[in-house]
Parts: sequence; structure tokens; C-alpha cells
Amino acid sequence: MSTLYKPLLTQHLPNIQEEVLNILSFETLQDIAWERLVKHKERGTIHWNIPPVEYMFAQSPSLFNFYKEIGISDFPEAIIMAVNFTPPDFLGTIHIDGLSDIATYSINIPIANCEGTYLNTYDVINPEKELSPYSLANKSNPYRYWKPEDCKLVSTNETVTPYLINVESPHQFSNPNMNTYRYMLISKIKKEYENVNDIVAKLFNLG
Ligand SMILES: [Fe+2]
Repeated sequence: MSTLYKPLLTQHLPNIQEEVLNILSFETLQDIAWERLVKHKERGTIHWNIPPVEYMFAQSPSLFNFYKEIGISDFPEAIIMAVNFTPPDFLGTIHIDGLSDIATYSINIPIANCEGTYLNTYDVINPEKELSPYSLANKSNPYRYWKPEDCKLVSTNETVTPYLINVESPHQFSNPNMNTYRYMLISKIKKEYENVNDIVAKLFNLG
């Protein structure tokens, strides 16, 4: 039984997408993505902080119900939310999320342009060949990464359903679509949250 990746199938997805786009606006997301790409020439995956978790759940009943079914109802205590932008024609690094990150697990929900985009998971076969950590948006929170030749692909999943992922295991995103940014809503489950182990075990059907 893998404890690295688990799709979370839900009937709420179409409503979540509609409600989240009502809050954030697809045009706003596109404007931000375009500005980052064209003005700042950013090619990496970008996080953009969004309204407080409480506001997101108040404005999106489907999001609220999805998390409630998962067993997360202490929202601000349990999770931190952001939007993840993956640029067009982009293959990310094989990496482990930030060294000083607040979470081992993340719940990621496809919001827009996610068809034909992928999450790959890997085993590192030459761990001693780890490259120097690099930073994206947060320089105090560097990522660990490896070259493809030092890793073995374990799984590839199209990111069209919500899923749970262990972000402390090597993973990579790809968006081979030539013209569209991919938008995912990500929720990192805080390590300090008292129920995190029970929730994760339940979602992985571990008991
Ligand atoms: Fe990551």
C-alpha cells in the first residue's frame, strides 16, 4: 500500500471548481500568471496566497463539504491553502518540498486547465547525488532535488482528481500543454495539527 499518493474521488469536484473560480476569478489568475511569465520571466511553479481559509470555506460550501468528509473541520488549525500555478510547456524538478516546511502531506485539488498535466513520483536511486538545495518563492525554505538520472519513476498520474500526496517524498509536476497555466488549489496539512496522522491513515485506508 502506497503512502505517497492517493486519489480522493469526490462528487463535489465540479462544484468546488465553480465556487473557487467565483472567489478567485479565472481572469485574475490568468492576469497574475501572465504577469509572472512575461514580466518576471518566472518559469518555476509559483504559489500565490489566497483569502483566509475560513473565507474560502464560507464562500464555497462544496469545498467545506469535501474537507468535512475527509475529516478536516478545524480549518485554520489544520491547513494552509494556496494556489499553485504550473506554467505551460513546463517540466518541474524532481524534488522534496521545503526543508523547513510545515507539512508532510498536502491535499491538492484541480481547479482549471488540469487535463493533460501530471504528477510523477520517484524513488531516488543515488541519494548521495543530491544537488544543492534551491529556493523558489521562499528563500528561507529551500527544496531538495535530484537529477532525473539519479531517480526511478514510480508513478505518473494525470492531475484531474483531488489527491493526497506526501510532499516529503520525491515528486515532479509537468504541464506539457503549450498555452495554458495549470491551476491547483493546494492545502498543506500542518504537521502540528493533532489529528493529522489519523486523517492521513484513514485516507490511505491504513486502518
Ligand atoms: Fe512539491
